[in-house]
Amino acid sequence: MSATPERKARLSPGDIRAHKGIQPVVCLTAYTTPMAQLVDAHCDVTLVGDSLGMVLHGLPSTLGVTMEMMILHGKAVMRGATRSCVVVDMPFGSYEEGPGQAFRNAARLLAETGCQAVKLEGGRHMAETVGFLVARGIPVMGHVGLTPQSVNTLGGYKVQGRSHHEADRIAVDAAALADAGAFAVVLEKLPSALGARISAEIAVPTIGIGAGVDCDGQVLVVDDMLGLFSDFRPKFVKRYAELGEAAGAAIAAYAEEVRARAFPGPEHGFGEGKPE
Ligand code: KIV
Repeated sequence: MSATPERKARLSPGDIRAHKGIQPVVCLTAYTTPMAQLVDAHCDVTLVGDSLGMVLHGLPSTLGVTMEMMILHGKAVMRGATRSCVVVDMPFGSYEEGPGQAFRNAARLLAETGCQAVKLEGGRHMAETVGFLVARGIPVMGHVGLTPQSVNTLGGYKVQGRSHHEADRIAVDAAALADAGAFAVVLEKLPSALGARISAEIAVPTIGIGAGVDCDGQVLVVDDMLGLFSDFRPKFVKRYAELGEAAGAAIAAYAEEVRARAFPGPEHGFGEGKPE
């Protein structure tokens, strides 16, 4: 029996905001229709993360992800997700210039995909933009701590907020986004104590990825938790399956059977008068 609560209508960003202090927010990424169907059946938020650039398209970072890629995958996810709140990432370069640029691109994401909200990276310097979008009908999820679009200024994908000074700076960033109207804030790769502190300090749900158990919700890249990559094992990911190994074994078996002329068998073929 599934522990996932019964749900009829689609969850809105306001519903997610209302989880604070009541129920953990369950979130996974999805980039395709079939994965969105699986995620949607159990999660409150389906995130079309720009991680799709690395996970699906083999890019070295998220910096090469475009609006067109986010719209294509956003549409695919919306075809599969009917009940969860679907959030689409704003790609690098689509919002940082200022509120006007951010509005034009966020409006495209909402209008062309039908998603419920956008996510953007950055702290207090993005607060004005968040307020601008929210005031104009675009719900925003924030993202602080390790912000992968800033990999070049951060100097890699390291844990953030280890010093008191850095921890205070990230806490102020998260509060600025919440005050500006973000309905939730992703906390990525922070010491667990800092994840707990920010979750206690801000009024909207924190959604942690490598930020400890005290966040108001959790998110993972679905391909990571399904074990679809054999060589990527970050500490904060628990593997709930080893689908990469299973897929590799199935493909090897297929290749062997084709070479041995063992597949297709008579049962896979069409003959005179045989039903399909
Ligand atoms: O792009 C993404 O998948 C994300 C999550 C890891 C939070 O931003």
